[in-house]
Amino acid sequence: MCPPAHFDVTYAINPWMNPAKPVDVPLAVAQWEDLRSRYLALGHTVEELTPRPGLPDMVFAANGATVVDGRVLGSRFAHREREPEAAAHLEWFRAHGFPHVQEPVHVNEGEGDFAVTVSYVLAGRGFRASPLSHGEAQEFFARPVIGLDLVDPRYYHLDTALAVLDDTTDEVMYYPPAFSPGSREVLRRLFPDALIAGAEDAAAFGLNAVSDGLHVLLPQAATGLLGPLRERGFEPVGIDLSELLKGGGSVKCCTQELRC
Ligand code: ARG
Repeated sequence: MCPPAHFDVTYAINPWMNPAKPVDVPLAVAQWEDLRSRYLALGHTVEELTPRPGLPDMVFAANGATVVDGRVLGSRFAHREREPEAAAHLEWFRAHGFPHVQEPVHVNEGEGDFAVTVSYVLAGRGFRASPLSHGEAQEFFARPVIGLDLVDPRYYHLDTALAVLDDTTDEVMYYPPAFSPGSREVLRRLFPDALIAGAEDAAAFGLNAVSDGLHVLLPQAATGLLGPLRERGFEPVGIDLSELLKGGGSVKCCTQELRC
């Protein structure tokens, strides 16, 4: 995770961002610290990346790399504004002794567009990641990569439209209208028992969730997902990250998972 010390909305690269709307940094920091302490209270380890001035989106740490089996595929951002974040992540992994760190050739925004289940790496495209990054990820991780076409600009990253609930059983939840008809059918075939989210919960960023296989941390406004998650045996934990939503991100965007 990366603290939102320099969080701001100074440009708009997704429909949620409005530079005319002021941002309350102390509130963003307090909300972010609450998310961090929830992880710690649940027994997870949280590593911190040092925020850099001039990189207001750096709080969205999920976008900086993808780690599977301890192998680190770095990012290459689609927008110039975020480009320097990639190097900060690579430096962190190199300094922390990760032996397999690859700088990518093609544009990919880390876990923004890559989601890891036990069988696949699901990979979004359409707004940010280049379709060519999918082949690059498949070769590097040696896992089957499933390309999924995103069609609604509000759900510009895969992690705004789909969340992995259990990476030992391939359990996911997603919002079908964010995907092209063909990709919807692919998801239906691969995950026939998926939890299907409705429009309101998707718009509340409810799919931007992080699960440890039992606890599902998600935006607290996505109330329609709480019951269905409990019915499946999960323990939903609502988090208020309203200030970070002004940048177009929530729980998952703020969290990069180190799968080692
Ligand atoms: N403002 C950031 C952007 O548009 C938000 C990124 C959110 N991150 C995510 N993993 N979806 O790039």
